[in-house]
Amino acid sequence: VVTTLNGGNAEELQQAYLASHDDRTVRVILLLVAMEAEAMPMVTALGLHADEPAVIAPPAPCHSFSGEHGGAQVHLVCFGKCKATGVDNVGTVPAALTAYLAIQAFKPDIVISAGTAGGFRSRGAAIADVFVSTGMVNHDRRIPIPGFDKYGIGAFDAVPTPRLQKALSLKSGVVTSGNSLDYTAEDMARMVQHEAAVKEMEAAAVAWSADLFACPVFCIKSVTDIVDGERPAQEEFLENLHKSAEALQRVLPLVVEFISGKRISEL
Ligand code: ADE
Repeated sequence: VVTTLNGGNAEELQQAYLASHDDRTVRVILLLVAMEAEAMPMVTALGLHADEPAVIAPPAPCHSFSGEHGGAQVHLVCFGKCKATGVDNVGTVPAALTAYLAIQAFKPDIVISAGTAGGFRSRGAAIADVFVSTGMVNHDRRIPIPGFDKYGIGAFDAVPTPRLQKALSLKSGVVTSGNSLDYTAEDMARMVQHEAAVKEMEAAAVAWSADLFACPVFCIKSVTDIVDGERPAQEEFLENLHKSAEALQRVLPLVVEFISGKRISEL
């Protein structure tokens, strides 16, 4: 199982989490989003504005947007474009870099990795469902050497959010990350082993950077494609990106409003 916390009810999970994290009040929220097509509707929905001059200076490729929403100071940082190809900087390398620089620059109370993902039908996922993460793990880092095996998995607990999940009727589960839109048989075996509900390309890297700062982190991911379905991910992804981005645009402001002003132990 992914979680590094012991099992138990929501209350026990929260107590265990607070053994290694401050029970701080959420006043500054950092949203990290890989793709511009996912980020811009959120920027609009949250009423944010591009930071000018740039808060995170070049050559870092990311772009930040800031504003106030629901009583919180909100910063959204998207990963920018690839210099060589012009497409969005998706994947774990830009995710870790952006998360590190953005946490350093904005000093958030909490980080949310937001975006689209593949969902597992076997864990209740349907197109445009919005999931909250319970944990983040890598599914494509295989290093069969003692110690490095566990490092490769790179599991992190999400900040427990039982009240948020209930209040907004959100599904929840483990988010696993890898650097491919498709998956190998070994990737799938690991996703099943870690009880993945959602598969994407950034969360475990964001969690790694957030952990360096002991900053609480969770994911909000909306489903564009069904991982354990019949169709190729890329086909479903392109078909459902708009619908899925709309779901994110609807839910994220509610998430920000819910967590704003609450302590970590009240999420
Ligand atoms: N983003 C959206 N769908 C995905 C999938 N199936 N795998 C990785 N990232 C995704």
